[in-house]
Amino acid sequence: VFDHVVRAPEDPILGVTVAYNKDASPVKLNLGVGAYRTEEGKPLVLNVVRRAEQMLVNNSSRVKEYLPIVGLADFNKLSAKLILGADSPAVQENRVTTVQCLSGTGSLRVGAEFLARHYHQRTIYIPQPTWGNHLKIFGLAGLSVKTYRYFCPSTRGLNFQGLLEDLGSAPSGAIVLLHACAHNPTGVDPTPQQWEQIRQLMRSKALLPFFDSAYQGFASGNLDIDAQPIRMFVADGGECFVAQSYAKNMGLYGERVGALSIVCRSADVASRVESQLKLVIRPMYSNPPIHGASIVAMILKDRNMFQEWTIELKAMADRIISMRQKLFDALRSRGTPGDWSHIIKQIGMFTFTGLNSEQVAFMTKEYHIYMTSDGRISMAGLSSRTVPHLADAIHAAVTR
Ligand code: LMR
Repeated sequence: VFDHVVRAPEDPILGVTVAYNKDASPVKLNLGVGAYRTEEGKPLVLNVVRRAEQMLVNNSSRVKEYLPIVGLADFNKLSAKLILGADSPAVQENRVTTVQCLSGTGSLRVGAEFLARHYHQRTIYIPQPTWGNHLKIFGLAGLSVKTYRYFCPSTRGLNFQGLLEDLGSAPSGAIVLLHACAHNPTGVDPTPQQWEQIRQLMRSKALLPFFDSAYQGFASGNLDIDAQPIRMFVADGGECFVAQSYAKNMGLYGERVGALSIVCRSADVASRVESQLKLVIRPMYSNPPIHGASIVAMILKDRNMFQEWTIELKAMADRIISMRQKLFDALRSRGTPGDWSHIIKQIGMFTFTGLNSEQVAFMTKEYHIYMTSDGRISMAGLSSRTVPHLADAIHAAVTR
């Protein structure tokens, strides 16, 4: 009965790793998925995470009971404070409902399902380009997905005018997906002044902000700075959705730890919203897993562990920034044609190189370098040892 089923294509991002794993070359390099690697090219488990895990294992009174539908209470409270700020009036006035979800994707999906059931506007605007999964997450939840201009290929910077025009002509009340920092895939973020203009425009048209915060602390190395755009929107007292992920900033990729916060206008509304979120979550996965959220809660709660985390986080962010400079220098020293200054200007885990899909295919075939076909490379996957290989490949691709 399934003879008619056609083979689906691999995922544009996770499929890159599938292809990479099949390659037997000793020089192969995976710059596809956004996953941090050390200078030795190895995945990293943070010391503070290992310490928290050890403490959890040693605690013999820990049990494996179900969590509530909304997840671990401490985790939720601390996650809201981390993203909105400990002194946030919205948190203090209990106007925020936070539910533990399956990393960023799960948080976005739960938020999308809630909106599809309870919000009067069914249109969401996502940036062009954006993380490939956004379109599917919101589309499958039943929302109508439109795009707003974001990236200018000629300057490799923000198309701010296009963004303002598109949001300016969006229907009143439409939902707008915003990357809180370190925009994926472009690495291009608005300045604080531009954020303020976006906020004013959106509030004047009652557009509903839905922030995707997958990189808090990874862009600047500072947790508060990277949360600033969200806090600007929350400070004005209006509603706001935030999807948080601990995949990158705590290196908890496979633990699937994230949170959805919905900032409401009153504590009463927030508690009713939470009751409906439970109805969304229960038929999807009943309740979230306990282990990863316990690690995060322990680290966020303990002053010393928190401090240790921020130091390790900054070290990851700094290593990525140093890779930007190294790659830029390597291309300059090869005399590679083109202006490569965007490599050092872009922010976060990715560089949107400007290489086209043919050049990417050439680099994969001839140099065993794997990346998404839109020319995005994960800077976190590079090391001092592999920069020359990548620079040789880029040089060859653009001078063919
Ligand atoms: C990425 O964009 O590489 C990451 O967000 C991982 C993913 O799930 O796509």
